Amino acid sequence: MLAQQAIANSGRFTVALSGGSTPKTLYSLLASPEYRGRVDWLRVHLFWDDERCVPPDHPESNYRMVREALLNRIQIPPENIHRMAGEKDPAAGAAEYEQELHNFFQTNRAAPHFDLVLLGLGEDGHTASLFPGTSAPDETHKLVTTVYVERLNAHRLTITLPVINAAAQISFLVAGESKSAIVTTVLSPGSNPAQYPAGRVMPASGKLTWFITQDAAGGIVTSL
Ligand code: 6PG
Repeated sequence: MLAQQAIANSGRFTVALSGGSTPKTLYSLLASPEYRGRVDWLRVHLFWDDERCVPPDHPESNYRMVREALLNRIQIPPENIHRMAGEKDPAAGAAEYEQELHNFFQTNRAAPHFDLVLLGLGEDGHTASLFPGTSAPDETHKLVTTVYVERLNAHRLTITLPVINAAAQISFLVAGESKSAIVTTVLSPGSNPAQYPAGRVMPASGKLTWFITQDAAGGIVTSL
């Protein structure tokens, strides 16, 4: 169990949570009577991969999704919850979160080393809020950046690839038939995954694991 190992090694377990709909099931399971007692939440620090630029009680808020599926149902100290301030001016929210990462991980310029980064996968190959066709996937100096997604007519805050790739464990959670085309494109032998932000997730020294439901894995299962 990753949390127990990290806590045994360093006294804490640091996690960057994915937004979107797919991880909600995992968060609910972790909060269930069967599992919540197996995690030492006093030593778990929760961060977010990305946030929609909305207030924390907005239906689109990734923080709200996690609060309802997990935080409201476990005993975790409020100081262990490090949410992104989606309600603030995007540039200010990103700068504030970058400072929070530096303060918490006591890094100066280097990327922090999360114990675990959970990621999702968009049908266009985005992950976190690193969307193709924007500058966010190419950001290598900042830990946190802002992105305007034209097709969503929305601003987002997101951690950058250097932060993701510095993690000890990176886990993609992908579900649904609608994802099978992009899963095939990113994971099939001989494909060119780097053309998609999700395909540029390559841990510097950590592990990368894909958790894919059968319906999302359709294409690659047949191609292997
Ligand atoms: C977000 C996410 C985003 C998400 C993918 C997949 O804020 O939306 O962080 O990267 O993981 O869009 O979303 P679904 O799980 O809803 O398909």
